[in-house]
Amino acid sequence: MNFYVMTLFPEMIEQGMHTSITGRAMEKGLLSLKTVNIRDYSVTGNGRIDDYPYGGGAGMVMQAEPIYRAYEDLLRQTRAQDKIRLVYLTPQGRVFHQAMAQELAQEENLAFLCGHYEGVDERVLEAIVTDYVSIGDYVLTGGELPAMVMMDAISRMVPGVLSNSDSGVSESFSDGLLEYPQYSRPELWRGCPVPPVLLSGHHGNVDRWRHEQSLLRTLRNRPDLLKKESLNKEDLKYLWKLLEEEMDNGLSAEEISVLKNLLGISLKLSD
Ligand code: ADE
Repeated sequence: MNFYVMTLFPEMIEQGMHTSITGRAMEKGLLSLKTVNIRDYSVTGNGRIDDYPYGGGAGMVMQAEPIYRAYEDLLRQTRAQDKIRLVYLTPQGRVFHQAMAQELAQEENLAFLCGHYEGVDERVLEAIVTDYVSIGDYVLTGGELPAMVMMDAISRMVPGVLSNSDSGVSESFSDGLLEYPQYSRPELWRGCPVPPVLLSGHHGNVDRWRHEQSLLRTLRNRPDLLKKESLNKEDLKYLWKLLEEEMDNGLSAEEISVLKNLLGISLKLSD
């Protein structure tokens, strides 16, 4: 997979991406990265790429022409005949999630435009951008970190990038639930034991325990992810047990309400 990034801070992207797993994947030729410095395409010749906003207001706006020239140069490097998929990072975009990472990982070429200042001239966005993406409901100083977040998540979905092929499968979000807790040696750490079921050698019990822990964790941290359609009979039984033992489990009022809702609806459906 080939990443292309248009940015005012290419060194930031290069350094981040040439580290750890993505760095290794680039050495292996599974990924490539080309950064384009928008400042090199300044039309004034002095490296300036921003100007005051028409209509007034605070801050500066990145001009259309330097970005468009950078894009044309980038297209030549991809040898793509027409438009390449190009993500503009903005808090106004659709919020990034795992399924989007999976979908974008199917592209051979993927480009990112990192904005700064108060924004980018709308005309160039309309001309070249295919996807507007936000990484969450907060405002950052620029699009570089969001682009790196996206490239990291997408890279993990590219075959061969993760050394253990399993680690991309049994993890948070892959089945709509958060990942179960993990333990390693020693068996007893500062008085805290590993859950006995993990030492039992009984794979069926280990799998069931892990799945239940995933359900519990999702209920605790991301109840919005629990969907009644994806719960089977065993899951519902476990959730019933959780509710019956609500005191022992220390469930909050919100967790109880989520459980009642899930179980109530599912009972009505099976009537
Ligand atoms: N640029 C500034 N904030 C951002 C965000 N939350 N997501 C994507 N791009 C951004």
